Amino acid sequence: MPADLVIVANRLPVDRVTQPDGTPGWRRSPGGLVSAIEPVMRANDGTWIGWPGGDGSGEDDLEPFEADGMQLVPIGLEQDEVELFYEGFSNATIWPIYHDLVAKPEFHRVWWDSYVKVNQKFAAKAASLASEGATVWVHDYQLQLVPQMLRDLRPDLRIGFYLHIPFPPAELFQQLPWRRQILEGLLGADLVGFQLPGGAANFVRLVRQRVGHKTHRDLVYLPDGRTVRAGAFPISIDAAGYEKLARTESVVERSAEIRKALGNPRKIFLGIDRLDYTKGIYARLRAFAELIEDGHFDVEDAVFVQVAVPSREQVEQYRILRDDIDRLVGRINGDLGRIGRPAISYLHTSYPREEMAALYSAADIMVVTPYRDGMNLVAKEYVATRTENDGALVLSEFAGAADELRQAWLVNPYDLNGMKSALLEAYRSDDKDLTRRMKAMRKTIQKHDVAAWADSFMTELAAVSHSSHAKTVRPAKRS
Ligand code: G6P
Repeated sequence: MPADLVIVANRLPVDRVTQPDGTPGWRRSPGGLVSAIEPVMRANDGTWIGWPGGDGSGEDDLEPFEADGMQLVPIGLEQDEVELFYEGFSNATIWPIYHDLVAKPEFHRVWWDSYVKVNQKFAAKAASLASEGATVWVHDYQLQLVPQMLRDLRPDLRIGFYLHIPFPPAELFQQLPWRRQILEGLLGADLVGFQLPGGAANFVRLVRQRVGHKTHRDLVYLPDGRTVRAGAFPISIDAAGYEKLARTESVVERSAEIRKALGNPRKIFLGIDRLDYTKGIYARLRAFAELIEDGHFDVEDAVFVQVAVPSREQVEQYRILRDDIDRLVGRINGDLGRIGRPAISYLHTSYPREEMAALYSAADIMVVTPYRDGMNLVAKEYVATRTENDGALVLSEFAGAADELRQAWLVNPYDLNGMKSALLEAYRSDDKDLTRRMKAMRKTIQKHDVAAWADSFMTELAAVSHSSHAKTVRPAKRS
């Protein structure tokens, strides 16, 4: 059935998995994108187009299905598309360039060709499902060509694009051999949304310099008379939902159980990240270990729980990172741990929301130290679950979240001594200081939740859209 709202993202909110008995099943996908978009989908009976994961074999026969009240339309990727489009161009070319070149990007023409082909596939599917005058909201760096491809196919649509990761400064972006095509792809949208004003400004400047369109502040004027707006829409979480979850009896009990299992230390440090080289996991574990070596505290006093969610495991840089972290954790625990008391409790796995909430509740100091991060929703989730206004957040200046969570201990993740000082200050801080900081951060998160984010994007999209007969989309409901 044609849909009035179509979400197009590389991933569906659920992943196809094989269950222990060999039958196919579905599991919630990782990452903040999924939890952010769900509420908008529910409020609008939208349709969500995306890849259901997997290795690319035997996916052609996937049918649209309903999960959790959402209409999902899977797009299968062939094995070569997984390698060239997903692991290659998306995650070994664009991802490192858009994250400050934390890793060295690779440029391969066959990867680009596959990126074009897969974007075309997503655009064609969206065009076939959208009703007359519908709104199509395209997401993230894997699908930057879809807006223009879709406009060529369906000029009647209202098209929004949102980038969940940083948009880099011109000096880095222009390394891309296909820089112009990517800018032109994005310009197919009526509204191009970024996490921060800096990303939007980078984009407009590049469009002026590289494509030669006239621009004024956040507006781009195209030769065909269309106007495209670039704006900042910092993404958020379902704050009320997390708070509610943190108060449930089972989460409260599980949180106490976790503390006990860790030997009831005075302080628990916590890191939860996808295992990604942008996240700064290595440096933060070193900083923590040095604090023990320097004698500031002991393994009886403090433990660092690091959850590393498996991610993009076929990409070489991710394999190297995993080996590096494995070795570092082994060395730190070998040098500093005692029987039953490792310095670092390392878990290479993903957890459901309930277990995450219990971990957040159990932790005294949340450590979020990416070298570059679009937003970082883990930092916001931690704040949302601190219903007693306690707990400390140590946060990288280079995470988008640092713009809003000013009362965190802000750190430069490249500065190991600075990071050690911040961890130690957070460890030693008194209740009064913690409460003052956490209260202010909680207020921010409660006000700027995910419903407010989606609402502001949709309102702006409706205002800027060229299409006078495009339909209006309802804002997401708060839980
Ligand atoms: C980030 C990206 C998302 C992506 C998620 C998980 O949050 O912005 O687009 O879905 O990571 O990564 P994956 O490669 O597993 O989809």
